[in-house]
Amino acid sequence: MNQPIEQALALLAAGELVAIPTETVYGLAADAANPQAVAKIFAAKGRPSDHPLIVHIAGSAQIDDWAIDVPQAARDLAAAFWPGPLTLILKRQPHVPDAVTGGQDTVGLRAPAHPLTHELLVRFGGGLAAPSANKFGHVSPTTAEHVRQEFGAEVPLVLDGGPCLVGVESTIVSLVSDQPMLLRPGGVPREAIEAVLGRPLEHHQKSDTAKIRASGLLDSHYAPRTKLITGSLPQLVETAHRYYEQGQRAGLILFGESPAAIPAAIRVAMPTNPAAYARELYATLRQLDTAGLDLLLLESPPNTPEWLAVNDRLMRAAHVRLPH
Ligand code: TXA
Ligand code: MG
Repeated sequence: MNQPIEQALALLAAGELVAIPTETVYGLAADAANPQAVAKIFAAKGRPSDHPLIVHIAGSAQIDDWAIDVPQAARDLAAAFWPGPLTLILKRQPHVPDAVTGGQDTVGLRAPAHPLTHELLVRFGGGLAAPSANKFGHVSPTTAEHVRQEFGAEVPLVLDGGPCLVGVESTIVSLVSDQPMLLRPGGVPREAIEAVLGRPLEHHQKSDTAKIRASGLLDSHYAPRTKLITGSLPQLVETAHRYYEQGQRAGLILFGESPAAIPAAIRVAMPTNPAAYARELYATLRQLDTAGLDLLLLESPPNTPEWLAVNDRLMRAAHVRLPH
């Protein structure tokens, strides 16, 4: 018997919140069939209540509990990538609470791969509505300790599943219209999804934001509290000198080791492998955010397909993006 899982099941049945580990980031979960429980998620996060939540399920066998008119493409993607970091947007079953879907006629479904949460979902049997377990707009948590820092006693139980292995959120694909759409790049590469679909994904454009209302698509998101500036190394060198002369303390987040002489209070060398970079990104931003710095300067990774998800998050996290 797994004590924390028993405790989580009891809390969920009582309409309480439980923070859960997933392979992407930690989630703040409630019983998706219980609107009062789901309302507690929005209250704890400080998130606008018209933003839809992902329903986490144990596996493909439960798709039809939540969705209708499920196209074969959705089943193919679930078979290829679940359990894993892929969220499918489908037409919802009429019983799915408006609190979960933000009143839309669609629902987001994902079967997470973390063994602890997978076991919880199998035992729970239903669906768990869960956004990332951070205050609205803040950096997503990739450890149980991050969740405790965000919520303290507001969340009665944090299931500790260790550090998240993927580190950025799931890829979101909408299969609601005939043209499959990439709404958020994430843990599953776009090319891998296109290979299964046998056709290109249309990448959601910014002008569609109002229509789709996916909060992860808002511009200011995933942000540290300290001012974050992203740019190329030469731009950062110049910027660092300028702030240094004003007596400001900068934290430098470099893409790999860098020989450049840059005045900074703290220097962090990030991995040059995209998966390793993604795994460390949020923890690094959180750590530097508590270091009492005046600004963070981050060297942008290359603008190539394997960096799509990381660059997407950096674009939203940055307060200033130096053009390059
Ligand atoms: O990896 C993940 O997806 C994590 C873990 C906890 O599973 N969850 C996560 O949740 O990132 P959240 O709420 O922070 O971001 C979910 C995104 C939001 O942008 C939300 O608007 C979008 O998914 N979403 C959920 N349901 C949707 C729907 N029916 N239509 C369009 N977008 C939807
Ligand atoms: Mg989030």
